Amino acid sequence: MKLTPEEERMLEGKNGKGCKLAMEILVEVGRAFGAERMVPVQSAHTVLSSYKGIMDAGIEALQRFVELGARASVPTTTDPAGMDLEQWKGFKVPQKYARKQFQIVKATRALGLIPCWTCTPYLCGLLPQKGDHLAWAESSAVIFANSIMGARTNRETAVIDISAGIAGRTPYYGLHLTENRWGNILIDVQMEHMGTDDYNILGYFMGKKAGTKTPVITGLQKADRFEDYKGMGAAAAASGGVALYHIVGVTPEARTVEEAFGKNRAEESFTFSTRERDLTKNEMCTARDGKINAVLVGCPHYTITEIKRAAQLLEGKKLRKDVQFWIYTYKNVESLAERLGYKKIIEKSGAAITSDTCMMISPTELWHFNTIMTDSGKFAYYAPSQVQSEVVFDSIENCVKAVVGKGK
Ligand code: F3S
Repeated sequence: MKLTPEEERMLEGKNGKGCKLAMEILVEVGRAFGAERMVPVQSAHTVLSSYKGIMDAGIEALQRFVELGARASVPTTTDPAGMDLEQWKGFKVPQKYARKQFQIVKATRALGLIPCWTCTPYLCGLLPQKGDHLAWAESSAVIFANSIMGARTNRETAVIDISAGIAGRTPYYGLHLTENRWGNILIDVQMEHMGTDDYNILGYFMGKKAGTKTPVITGLQKADRFEDYKGMGAAAAASGGVALYHIVGVTPEARTVEEAFGKNRAEESFTFSTRERDLTKNEMCTARDGKINAVLVGCPHYTITEIKRAAQLLEGKKLRKDVQFWIYTYKNVESLAERLGYKKIIEKSGAAITSDTCMMISPTELWHFNTIMTDSGKFAYYAPSQVQSEVVFDSIENCVKAVVGKGK
């Protein structure tokens, strides 16, 4: 790899031992992927944040950087933690697990990371612009930044993400290069109306068809709410490995079909109509009957608009006593929900807002839920393997309807 004089100095340890280690890791990764050089990044987002996700090996990696005196040199945010950092005792989190999680919190503080604890860093201070280079892990954030914002990031992995945050650069390969951002499969949407749940289903369908390819979507109008893209992208990144898609006439690198495909051609074409929507939704639901034990929503983390909608649906209702209803978000949004009175309404119904973590990277499996209902395409994909539960996917409206009891 060709390094700049500054990067050579980093590699020699002139910026400290922590930065030296980060550069060594990045150079190895760059060589493995055939990168010719590094590219400076505007920000990094790390998944070295949840004990369930990174276990002891991840803590050791973080602590190694701390011992070597490393500090983030560009804004570097944290993905959700492995438990609600304040209310963890109410969620059956074992003491030993909590101790480990707090070691992670301590290390991230020492490294100068921004403690957002969210998978939506673009709503928490990191607002990428078109053409910005980033080093983000967290597949749902990566696909949002690439597709909706036109920023450029690979799906970084743990350790590489923090190394990039420390060194302020990442190997220049993959989605940093224009020619790797052109589409190579076509998805033609033939739906008269798209509800929020339909966007999630389309994302799931897209991931299954595209794998790691880049879909170009035609026939889709601009969504009314950006949250629809948040859910759609997360589902596509989960059921497949999609890191970038284009919506012709909507997303920044797809003003026309020609621009979206660049010098590529569609290798395959698919139609998404009510037929595919219904078949995919059926595939997303593993539970055929049985009682819903929990409704878990907020994957990716709910925005204040989504919490408002949940509060409107729950207002004046009471949940069945034998059901848990948890809404996942991060602390800033929870505070807003409190100020706006939504939190009180939600809690009065028997539901709860839980912050800085999520249903997948906290030990939800300890609740032994048989059947979980969710409005998230991503979580529907992972629930059977990650939480050992059957799953029902549906809109937030139907999630609420399914678990409210009789009377107020
Ligand atoms: Fe976010 Fe957790 Fe879903 S990190 S995208 S809420 S699995």
